[in-house]
Amino acid sequence: MKQFRVAPMASSEITPESVYLQRRRFLRTLGLAAPLLATGCGGSEPGQAAVPSADETPSGTPLESRRNERWDTKEEPTSWRDATQYNNYYEFGTGKSDPARNAGRFKPQPWTVEVAGHAEVTGRFALEDLLKPQALEERIYRHRCVEAWSMVIPWVGIPLGECLARFKPTSRAKYVAFTTVNRPEQMPGLAYPVLDWPYREALRIDEAMHPLSLLAVGLYGRELPNQNGAPLRLVVPWKYGFKGAKSIVRIEFWERQPATSWNLAGPSEYGFYSNVNPDVDHPRWTQSSERRIAGSGGNLFARRVATLPFNGYGDEVASLYAGMDLRKNY
Ligand code: MTE
Repeated sequence: MKQFRVAPMASSEITPESVYLQRRRFLRTLGLAAPLLATGCGGSEPGQAAVPSADETPSGTPLESRRNERWDTKEEPTSWRDATQYNNYYEFGTGKSDPARNAGRFKPQPWTVEVAGHAEVTGRFALEDLLKPQALEERIYRHRCVEAWSMVIPWVGIPLGECLARFKPTSRAKYVAFTTVNRPEQMPGLAYPVLDWPYREALRIDEAMHPLSLLAVGLYGRELPNQNGAPLRLVVPWKYGFKGAKSIVRIEFWERQPATSWNLAGPSEYGFYSNVNPDVDHPRWTQSSERRIAGSGGNLFARRVATLPFNGYGDEVASLYAGMDLRKNY
């Protein structure tokens, strides 16, 4: 199978990296980066220092994309280093620096995705065929984790809805479920029953079809690093980050609401909808503000900013939930 490469370009041709680079030198000097945070979508443990050898310059295969500024946040992007060193990807461990540290053996190519369920077109598709013929877009989104930290990330991907439409979902397709990869030999975290593996997430079909929903293959103009969900992940910017399933291998159209990993793990803490909502606290912490991991100073002195309903995308998506009690449907 052909390797997935979207028109590699010389680094000099892509968006100036200075846009993404943040001043982290003093942190490097100190040799530390991560703060103490309640960790894991479900637990709490001390944060860990970021992997010290990491470069602050975006690396990996450059991707050609066109900027789509329609929903751009004008906020300062998080540094490449933080975005790729401070992650949640429990298949590689529950600490924030575990994914970057442990994902080196993971092989995201070649890659296929199985499409199943209530659709006219189903089957197994090579990643490059799944993405075709859509042009990659770059979109700068807010990225809000349920643990009350957030980042600003320039994602590269294709609109999820346009991809799904090609499979011609039938009228019975009310939900879309995403299952992620399960490779114990490459993913040390799978040895621990932290979640009911494989990691699963789902959206209502109208949420999936919303033009803000993105199937991401890159960030900062580069292919996704393993720890960020290579080669294919979901980005749903008005929802908490755990809806953003990483390393997707299966997409299935369902008639009934599918079970999802975090909801199974803690139904009172992680609802199916998980729309960012400053008025509905997590049982163990407030959701009214967030620690923004961005800008000079980085994690250690991250600013606290007020959390916005729907993560600031309310004008676009609030109508999807008209008439629903969002305290009940958290
Ligand atoms: N996808 C898989 N397969 N496994 C995971 O543990 N963690 C989720 C989500 N997707 C997770 C996952 C959580 S809790 C968050 S907050 C985001 O990925 C984090 O994405 P980031 O590391 O790129 O910031």
